[in-house]
Amino acid sequence: MATATALLPLLLLFLTLATVSADKFTVGDSKGWNPGVNYTEWEKKHRPFHVGDWLVFYYQAGMADVVQVDEVAYNKCDASNPITNYSKGRSYAFELNQTKMYYFICSYGYCYQGMKVAIKAEPLPTPSSPLSQKTSSSPSIVPRSAVAVTLAAALAALLRLV
Ligand SMILES: *[C@@H]1O[C@H](CO)[C@@H](O)[C@H](O)[C@H]1NC(C)=O
Ligand SMILES: *[C@@H]1O[C@H](CO)[C@@H](O)[C@H](O)[C@H]1NC(C)=O
Ligand SMILES: *[C@@H]1O[C@H](CO)[C@@H](O)[C@H](O)[C@H]1NC(C)=O
Repeated sequence: MATATALLPLLLLFLTLATVSADKFTVGDSKGWNPGVNYTEWEKKHRPFHVGDWLVFYYQAGMADVVQVDEVAYNKCDASNPITNYSKGRSYAFELNQTKMYYFICSYGYCYQGMKVAIKAEPLPTPSSPLSQKTSSSPSIVPRSAVAVTLAAALAALLRLV
């Protein structure tokens, strides 16, 4: 019983983490947000992205910026009408807080060589039901919420013990 009680806070912590879990992606991984990195390949490697995930851009101050644009401007490397733009400091964290496409470019001229990234923020995975299984395109992915359900069951079992 003592062990079970001691485990309780830990389980609660895991439960909280599983429920609110959002991933943080460092754009370009160890290469950061710099010229000469193919961010299309980076995106392919790390997709899918979900609402609530964070993108963190690390760049060299004065050498690069992060400009969010629309699709047309993205294709043309046109930073003249930014949705948001960020150039202060050496890093920029951006939350994907809507289900939509996000486009980022660098306005320093490196965009033409590929310093641009398009990210699709997908809805959070839901627990599998007959309906969602029918529409899901990637059934192999374990929904994060399934982890929460499992932990909730474990917690309930534990509570019955004590
Ligand atoms: C970014 O925003 C600042 C302030 O609004 C503006 O002066 C600057 O020209 C913008 N940069 C780009 C690349 O749009
Ligand atoms: C979404 O994120 C943007 C940029 O990070 C922020 O300005 C905006 O307020 C956020 N919107 C919501 C609904 O959280
Ligand atoms: C980046 O990689 C993609 C896929 O491998 C390729 O189609 C694209 O041409 C590359 N972009 C640049 C700027 O090299």
